[in-house]
Amino acid sequence: MEDKSIVSVIFGASGDLTWRKLVPALYDMYYRGLLPGGFKVLGVGRAQLTDESFREKMKEGLDRFVPASFVDQQRMAHFLQQLHYHAMDTNAAKDYEGLRRRLGELSQTADRDDYLYYFAMPPFMYAPVASYLHTVGLTRRTSAQSGFRRVIIEKPFGHDAPSAANLNRELLRYFSEDQIYRIDHYLGKEAVQNMLVMRFSNGIFEPLWNRNYVEYVEITSSEALGVGSRAGYYESAGALRDMVQNHLLQLLAIGAMDPPVSSDANAIRNEMLKVFLSLRRMTPEQVPEYVIRGQYTGAVRRGEPLRAYREEKGVAPESKTETFVAMKCYIDNWRWSGVPFYIRTGKCLPTRVTEVVVHFRPNPHHIFARRSGMENVGNQLVLRIQPDEGILLRFGMKVPGAGFHVDQVSMDFHYSSLGEKHIPDAYERLLSDCMMGDATLYQRGDAVEATWQYVQPILDAWASDPTIPLYGYPAGSWGPEQADTLLATDGHAWRYPCKNLTSDDGYCEL
Ligand code: BG6
Repeated sequence: MEDKSIVSVIFGASGDLTWRKLVPALYDMYYRGLLPGGFKVLGVGRAQLTDESFREKMKEGLDRFVPASFVDQQRMAHFLQQLHYHAMDTNAAKDYEGLRRRLGELSQTADRDDYLYYFAMPPFMYAPVASYLHTVGLTRRTSAQSGFRRVIIEKPFGHDAPSAANLNRELLRYFSEDQIYRIDHYLGKEAVQNMLVMRFSNGIFEPLWNRNYVEYVEITSSEALGVGSRAGYYESAGALRDMVQNHLLQLLAIGAMDPPVSSDANAIRNEMLKVFLSLRRMTPEQVPEYVIRGQYTGAVRRGEPLRAYREEKGVAPESKTETFVAMKCYIDNWRWSGVPFYIRTGKCLPTRVTEVVVHFRPNPHHIFARRSGMENVGNQLVLRIQPDEGILLRFGMKVPGAGFHVDQVSMDFHYSSLGEKHIPDAYERLLSDCMMGDATLYQRGDAVEATWQYVQPILDAWASDPTIPLYGYPAGSWGPEQADTLLATDGHAWRYPCKNLTSDDGYCEL
């Protein structure tokens, strides 16, 4: 990166994200030479920290989260010297003059410094902070020579369709669209970006990637952990808002979009938007039929008691918040008409895995004997996003020996086979893109609003109809059985990924 000066101003700097993700990602970038010589970080927040105490706290994060191969005490010490802290009441307009002065003191090239604001604070603060920055002249370039002013907005971006639209409107009063970077960290994952490359740089997949050859698609993102210490946020969010409206719909769009005309940010984002706009909205009657919600209950796994969601700290004893969602979506366009896309996500499931599985139609005429239960199984292409990132193609193969008996085997690629190649953390990739002004992997305002409009009828039905069930599922299981029925009624089934993901065909420890 050319030698310029970038100040990353992190609002909410004493929060978890800064310590766990942002500062370690910035260090990795520094280590790999992706930050300009004149970079600085200014943590901003209410906590009364000094530069020194902020650095100490961030050092703990580096010690825990930086990959061992990047640890270099001397370089870490130099990196930490570039971190600063400014205590202020971010909700008080009068404190922003002080922030402007502090930025001036840190400046190396006067107003030619670039400012990247990272909003990692509670969402109700996004619009007010943008307006206060604007009031003191920190949102606009002052001359053609002055540095950029960009803002990264963390999720959740809105709580429902009207609040997301409102937030867009507010932010656009102070920043222009090309200054706003709405983050969805799933788009920063290497294997998600590889879906684009796999689809659009190979000749063999795209001809099959449509309703003529694809029977259904499943997208699973399961987590083994429960809600942990985040009940304060999660209670009013739930799995639909927390995972489906953003991360899983992004995966769906990348898997379903038409080929963009180029790799330009807007070319890609236009195609993703078209998918969101083609998603068939559910009627209130369809919601209980197409969307299964669940909540984990207490269970014992291998002798170890697992807490119910309602027993977690900060969760209401009668909470109706869903920790699991399985749903069926249709994309009403020429390519996907009639092909169901099933989405599943949940906390306290047997293992942590995110994958997109494309189920191709079985061959129409079987001349060879197949293992029982395999008669109608087509090829599957598994795009594994995490862990053990890779791609797996399942296909029929002759069982060695007499006769012609068919069984399924996998042809697989694992990123780990690339050897020492560093797979950047999602935040590292996204921060770096924002510094370079590349918004491809960030969400455009119209797309965020479109995803909210798709989930809004589900939120409305749940809010207005108390008879829609919330199914319990034992912690450590794959969710309520109604999630299986959702597919079974269409003659389909979920793929159950093993814990031991690499040997997909063998013994499965759950
Ligand atoms: C976050 C959600 O956006 O994504 C969390 O708020 C979830 O609830 C997390 O655990 C999952 O991210 P990842 O990268 O671990 O799959």
